[in-house]
Amino acid sequence: MVEPTPTISGTAVCGFILMNIILRKYGFFRYFCKRFFPIFERQQALSNMKKYIMLDINTIEHLDKIATPFYYYDMELFQKTVDHVAELAQQHEIKVHYAIKANVERRLLEYISSKGFGADCVSGNEVLHAHSCGFPAGKIVYAGVGKSDKEIYDAMMLGIEAFNCESLQEIFVINEMAHLHGVKANISVRINPDIDAHTHKYVTTGLYENKFGISNHEFDKLIEFLQKSEHINFFGLHFHIGSQITRVNEVFSLECKRVNEIVRYFESKGLTVKNINLGGGLGVDYDDPDGSPVADFETWFNAISSNIIRRKDQSVHVEPGRSLVAQCASLISRVLFVKSGETKNFLIMDAGMNDLIRPALYGAYHKIENLSAAQRSFFPTYQAYDIVGPVCESSDVWGAGRLLPLSVRGDLMAIRSTGAYGQVMASRYNMKDLAPTVFSDRLEEAPQAVDYFDLSTRVQ
Ligand code: LLP
Repeated sequence: MVEPTPTISGTAVCGFILMNIILRKYGFFRYFCKRFFPIFERQQALSNMKKYIMLDINTIEHLDKIATPFYYYDMELFQKTVDHVAELAQQHEIKVHYAIKANVERRLLEYISSKGFGADCVSGNEVLHAHSCGFPAGKIVYAGVGKSDKEIYDAMMLGIEAFNCESLQEIFVINEMAHLHGVKANISVRINPDIDAHTHKYVTTGLYENKFGISNHEFDKLIEFLQKSEHINFFGLHFHIGSQITRVNEVFSLECKRVNEIVRYFESKGLTVKNINLGGGLGVDYDDPDGSPVADFETWFNAISSNIIRRKDQSVHVEPGRSLVAQCASLISRVLFVKSGETKNFLIMDAGMNDLIRPALYGAYHKIENLSAAQRSFFPTYQAYDIVGPVCESSDVWGAGRLLPLSVRGDLMAIRSTGAYGQVMASRYNMKDLAPTVFSDRLEEAPQAVDYFDLSTRVQ
C-alpha cells in the first residue's frame, strides 16, 4: 500500500500563526525568536568582536517610549571598543590620541581619557574641553590650518604636548608668541605625504597640494627655520591622509613607507624626529554595523608595526576618531507620515539633516532599519521607500529607494553608525531642537515620548 504523502493543511498553518501571535504575549515565541533569530537577542560575541546586535528586542521596547529624535549610545559596545584598542595599542607600543572632533560627548571622553589615551584637537575649545574631560595637557595635540592667536595663546599657556603645525606662517607666529611669553612651545610639523587614501574627495587630505600640511617644496626652508629658532622645540612629524579608509593594509602600509622616507630626510638634515604621528582615518563598516561592530584596528596596527621604521627613542602616535565611536550610536527617529507618490513612496521622518548632515553633505550611506516592523512581523513584505527628513531642503534625504519592511506612521527607525561626525555636526537649522543623547545604561533619564495624537492608531 502506498503511504499518503504528509501535507500541511491550511488550517494547521493558520493555527500555527495564531498560536504564535498568542504565545508572543506570553513568552514562548520570544524564547523561540531569541534562539533562532538574532535580532531578538544581543549575541554575546563581543569577546571576539564578531557579530553584535545593538538593537535587540528588549532595547527596542525601551526606545519606543522615548521622545524622538535622539542619539542612542550603546555604552557596552563603546567601552569594549575602547578597551580593545587600548590593549592592541599596548601590544604594538603605539600611542593613541582620540580625535575628539568625531564626538565630544563628555561621558565618552572621560572614559577614553581614563584609559590613558591622549586627545587630538582642532580648535581652542576642543583643547579646553578635552582637558576638562580628563586628558592631561601633556597628552593633548592641537592641529588645524587656522589657529587664531587667542587659541594658540591658550593652548601654549596650558602646556599642551604639541602644536601640529600646518604652515610655515603658523610656525613663525608660534615662535614669536613663545618668545614674547618666555616659553618654549613643542611643535610637530604636518606633512603632506602625497598619498591617495582612496576615499571620498571631501575627506582625503594627504594629496600634494592641499590646504592641510606642508609639502616638499617648502621642506628646506622649514628645516632651516627649525634649526635656528630658539623658542620652539621640534617634537616630530605629523601625517593624516584622509578619513574612512577601507583599504586598510594597502593604504596605511603605503603611508608608513612614505613616512619612513620623509623621517629619514629630516634626520639627514640634523633634526631629531622624536615622534611620528600617523593621524587617523581607519574606516568603519557602514553597510553592516552589526556584522562589523568594531573597526579593523588589528590590520591597521599590524600594517604600522610591520612597515614603520622606528628607533627605541621614537614614539609612534595614531589619531583615530570615527573608528572609536561610529558604531556605538544610532540616530533614532520616527516615521511621521507615509506619503504615496505616483511612482514613489516616501517615509517622512522626524529626524533631519540638521541632526545628521553626512548624507546631505557627502552623499554618505547610513544603514536604516525599521525597528517596529522587526517586532511586528517575522516575514514582512518589503517595499522601496525614499526616506526623507522634515527640513526644507531637497537634500534632506536619508536614502532613496531603500527596501524596508512595510512601514507605517509611528514606526521607530534607526539610522545606524552615527556615533562619529553625527551630533558634533548637528545644527539648529529651521530652529529644530538638537537631538538629545540617550545612554543605554541610563535609559531612565531619557525624555519620555508624549502621545499628542494616538500614534498606535497607525493612521496610514
Ligand atoms: N587627525 C586629523 C588631523 C584629522 O583631520 C582627522 C579627521 C582625524 C585625525 C580623525 O580621522 P578619523 O579617524 O575620524 O577618520 N566629517 C567627515 C570626516 C572628517 C574628518 C576630518 N579629519 C565625515 O563625516 O565623514
